[in-house]
Amino acid sequence: MIASVLALVRPDILALTPYSSARKESSGGRIWLDANENPETPEAHRPLLNRYPEPQPAALAATLATLYGVTPDRLLITRGSDEGIDLLLRTFCRAGQDAILITPPTYGMYSVAAGIQGARVVPVPLVLEKNFALDPAAVLAAIGPESGVKLVFLCSPNNPTGQLLDRAAVLLVARSLAGRAVVVVDEAYVDFAPQPSLAAELAALPNLVILRTLSKAYGLAGARVGATLADPALIAVLHKVIAPYPVPTPVLQAALAALSPAGRAAAQESIRQLVAERLRLASALAKLPGIQQVWPGDANFLLLRVADSAHVMAAGRAAGIIWRDRSKDVPCTIRLTVGTREENDATLEVLARV
Ligand SMILES: Cc1ncc(COP(=O)(O)O)c(C=O)c1O
Repeated sequence: MIASVLALVRPDILALTPYSSARKESSGGRIWLDANENPETPEAHRPLLNRYPEPQPAALAATLATLYGVTPDRLLITRGSDEGIDLLLRTFCRAGQDAILITPPTYGMYSVAAGIQGARVVPVPLVLEKNFALDPAAVLAAIGPESGVKLVFLCSPNNPTGQLLDRAAVLLVARSLAGRAVVVVDEAYVDFAPQPSLAAELAALPNLVILRTLSKAYGLAGARVGATLADPALIAVLHKVIAPYPVPTPVLQAALAALSPAGRAAAQESIRQLVAERLRLASALAKLPGIQQVWPGDANFLLLRVADSAHVMAAGRAAGIIWRDRSKDVPCTIRLTVGTREENDATLEVLARV
């Protein structure tokens, strides 16, 4: 079955000889004179910033693989999940020929990466009347032989709307597209959701790709660490496309600390608190006269409908609070990230006045 996924990859990428870095070609040894590095590390830059890092640091790959419930050969460490999106576009979509399918309103980087690569974007909207549900029949209908769609991006929980997509509907799309297109499920926010990741389905579905990140639940947005989970054969192809050293040494250390037993316990506690705050915020917001609708959320943010989003944003700014106006995606909406209890109280106080 995997042969059919590889048949979708750009032929020139399949034929590409990847860059071979010094650290890929050799390991071990005592005196490293192979990579034109400075033999000294400045005191301020300890430890070892004079040396290039491991291309895919084995300790981090093993830890992330355990965290996400996959074997390390199904995982590529990336600079945030944004890099995973970019790698997939460059790997699958030929400029001027191929396309991606997105389900708006959704995360903006899919279209941006497509634009950079010269890939067309086929939009199949989520169903607003059904709390932004995925319409699998409409997605499949849009992927005819002439559509050129190679990648289908499904975001679950979806940004900016907040809900998980129906698991059975996502799996139906992936199964139906076997050998025809790759289904990329962006799970940036799944740590906050009441359902587990789809990672357990990867073994059965070679055309399924999952994007994960440490930017949200693990609080490491500034470190830029994400992971692309996929069939080992596809991961091997992505290794050809990714930059030689995507994980800087200080980032590696920050990620390993965040994933230590203490770091994981702290993340679990943070997730518990943010989910509790999301529930508190959602029920308090629903009682405010100025809030017309609060969509149920499975992530660390909530989408609200208001009468005048610009007015609400201005009220927030006047109180020093920055939310996100999402009216271009869904008319008259703002998106609130769930913050600390004090931050959420400040949000409620301002929104009670609008
Ligand atoms: C749905 C979704 N995917 C991916 C990302 C990118 O996150 P990162 O590159 O930090 O992992 C974001 C960031 O907001 C997001 O909302």
